[in-house]
Amino acid sequence: MGYCPAMIVLGIETSCDETAAAIVSDDRRILSNIVRSQIADHAPYGGVVPEIAARAHIEAIDGIIANAMAAADIGFEALDGVAATCGPGLIGGVIVGAMTGKAIAAARALPFIAANHLEGHALTARLTDDIGFPYLLLLVSGGHTQFIAVEGVGRYRRIGGTIDDALGEAFDKTAKMLGLGFPGGPAVEKTAARGTTGRFNLPRPLKGREGADFSFSGLKTAVRHAIEALPPGAVSDSDATDLCADFQQAAAEVVANRTSHAIDIFKEIHPEGGVLVVAGGVAANRAIRSALDEAAAARGFDFIAPPPALCTDNGAMIAWAGIERLRLGLTDGLDFKPRPRWPLDEIAAA
Ligand code: KG4
Ligand code: ZN
Repeated sequence: MGYCPAMIVLGIETSCDETAAAIVSDDRRILSNIVRSQIADHAPYGGVVPEIAARAHIEAIDGIIANAMAAADIGFEALDGVAATCGPGLIGGVIVGAMTGKAIAAARALPFIAANHLEGHALTARLTDDIGFPYLLLLVSGGHTQFIAVEGVGRYRRIGGTIDDALGEAFDKTAKMLGLGFPGGPAVEKTAARGTTGRFNLPRPLKGREGADFSFSGLKTAVRHAIEALPPGAVSDSDATDLCADFQQAAAEVVANRTSHAIDIFKEIHPEGGVLVVAGGVAANRAIRSALDEAAAARGFDFIAPPPALCTDNGAMIAWAGIERLRLGLTDGLDFKPRPRWPLDEIAAA
């Protein structure tokens, strides 16, 4: 090996429907990053079933960690710490990852980091692009849609967020109503690509309003009404493609507008900042990405979107959050209680 990292950390992620483990070093190298998706386990139910997720994590976690260690070609003695997501998320799954991480830390007398899943997303751009603080983050996934000023490790200021559904959830519900399968986001994007916009008159909730909050429940309801207004019988292929195109366009327009406002609010607090980062599964969507890119460019901000595999849930972001904390001497006791709810702005400041 041509480098000598000062720190190597194992990261474990089990808060939703991915069982993931990764090895990352403090010189920003991902030595391994193994993700097992449970999509097939949940697909018959059209969404993630918490009990099924927890059981699947129990069955998979040991093997996934072994795979991550093998792929990185290291043994446990090479580790300097273990980080596991301890919230927020589906608590059964969180407990599985947290207990496994604690057990390895205890058996090897290693420091343990109780990682906040959202902090993992928030700090990923520092792993991929080595950016400095502060920056503006849009976290947009199946469970979260929020703007955060990332000011330092453990220092997060919420600038705006959804007052009802997450955007990923709106994509998933739209897909479900049209029978496009689960997870819905990628299916809606693919279907929209064959459609034409302008046929359905969908709302742009909160567009143009003050502030940087989102609302997607009205858009979701409008999609349902549009489907109900179609002639009885099956939704035709062109109905589905056009409706997806209009839904995606409405979502992208809202995201662009709210992002412009969020940048203005961020600039007031941090005139020195100039970077917009996106994270979360919806960041994989090309229409959303280009909306963000344009909104950032119009205000002179750089736009960073980590590769999709690091935008969706993974162990590397948890290992990296562990490294960021370990570097500052921020470790947690093995008695740390997993938390189903754990907002970023409640994290103990570094
Ligand atoms: O970050 P993530 O993997 O898991 C969490 O929710 O934490 O995000 C998953 C969400 C799902 O709602 C999924 O439908 C959405 O991200 N998603 C997309 C796309 N790919 C994933 N939404 C729109 N377009 C996509 N291409
Ligand atoms: Zn996530």
